[in-house]
Amino acid sequence: MTEELKKAAAQKALELVQDGMLLGLGSGSTAKYFTEGVGRLVAEGMKLRAVPTSRATAELAAELGIPIVQEPVGPIDLAVDGADEVDGSLDLIKGRGGALFREKLVAAAAKRFIVVVDESKLVRELGVGVLPVEVLPFLWRTTAERLTALGASLTVRGGEEAPYITDNGNLILDLLVEGGIKDAASFGDALKRTAGVVEHGLFVRMTDTLIVAGPEGPRVVGRLSGGAVARPNSAQDK
Ligand code: A5P
Repeated sequence: MTEELKKAAAQKALELVQDGMLLGLGSGSTAKYFTEGVGRLVAEGMKLRAVPTSRATAELAAELGIPIVQEPVGPIDLAVDGADEVDGSLDLIKGRGGALFREKLVAAAAKRFIVVVDESKLVRELGVGVLPVEVLPFLWRTTAERLTALGASLTVRGGEEAPYITDNGNLILDLLVEGGIKDAASFGDALKRTAGVVEHGLFVRMTDTLIVAGPEGPRVVGRLSGGAVARPNSAQDK
């Protein structure tokens, strides 16, 4: 069922794709359905180019014949990606797939950032699960100490013996903040100021549109002009 919901959300996002667009292609199992859909559009003759957010997505895009752009000039028209947690303000936790750094760069470079999820990703408050933080391997234990001092417990993804290495050659520390993340913007700022941190998985005020799929079908939740958002109802009711 979940796979069907992921597919439905990705399919809805495909409706926003127009001929000539430069797309940002996300990473993870939901974004993969979007990339596959883009591949179908290209096969049908639509002129599209794409910036992938990970090596895995780049490989898939290449297999599907999607023209890849590494260093685009100007903005990306539309970036579509999944998320691990989404709150009522459309703020996100991303990076449990390990691609958060490039995902954030692509989202930041996009005129429109569309998030596609099934409804299991909706939370009342971010921090239900871990918050991935990408750190430089050099002196990483001292970085971990600084992060612990911010009030988080953490683990090295993959374990210290054989750590997971990101596409950028860095480590991921998975932070757990007991009681949840009360103020995502200020916690994100604190992470960003921590020496050794390359990037973190909090995406605050970056989502333009959320497409959330439930059994009744996909629904679209948009950020309105002026920064207010239409809330995803069930996120608040859970
Ligand atoms: C990758 O680093 C992540 O940010 C993914 O976008 C996120 O984990 C969502 O993945 P799924 O769609 O597989 O749940």
